Amino acid sequence: MSSSPEIKTTDNEDPETSLNFFTQLLRPVNVFLTGIIVVLVYKILKSKFSKASVYPPRPELPKIRKDMTVAELRHYDGNQPDGRVLVAVNGWIFDVTRGRRFYGPGGPYAAFGGKDATRGLATFSVTSSDKEYDDLSDLNSMEMDSIKEWEAQFRENYDLVGKLLKPGEEPTNYSDEETEETEPVNNPEDKKAQ
Ligand code: HEM
Repeated sequence: MSSSPEIKTTDNEDPETSLNFFTQLLRPVNVFLTGIIVVLVYKILKSKFSKASVYPPRPELPKIRKDMTVAELRHYDGNQPDGRVLVAVNGWIFDVTRGRRFYGPGGPYAAFGGKDATRGLATFSVTSSDKEYDDLSDLNSMEMDSIKEWEAQFRENYDLVGKLLKPGEEPTNYSDEETEETEPVNNPEDKKAQ
């Protein structure tokens, strides 16, 4: 007559266990951790593939020897079809195309690409001015020393292209390469007077 209470058998536990598993999975902390893992995997894969597409291997460009004005230099910021990047340091223009990942579009020092980087390097600031020509006359001796060190580093790592021309200065003819001046000159005016 009395109805016996319903006793759960072990067979009934299976659905509950799997339910527990899903409730565990949906706990905020687990959702959060799963999210982080998904984002990290996405970032790793993205950086792997985007590096290849942003900086695909390029055929080496022919060397150029040419003095340029600030306005001419501006064309070589790496955005043009051949991707060449030039940077001026202390009155000298260097071909930094092999350092495209630094100075090319999207690089940490892209502000120097196609520009006179001297003042930025001397003052340790990744900025360049759009001035027509920066005579640097207001820099102090420590900043000038630092510029000379930067120039030496660029000479060691990159090909020299030519001089950054002052307004009105005539470009050198480099067709007779061996005889031309390519060494640093403290005062280019002294050199011209010789
Ligand atoms: C927190 C600040 C900075 C960090 C952590 C940093 C880090 C670095 C590193 C790791 C390199 C060597 C990259 C390599 O050879 O693979 C490098 C190179 C360089 N950095 Fe910086 N940098 C900083 C600030 C600056 C600033 C403010 C300037 C400019 C004024 C600057 C200019 C340069 C230049 C010109 C190079 C040489 C790139 C080349 O090899 O042509 N850096 N920097």
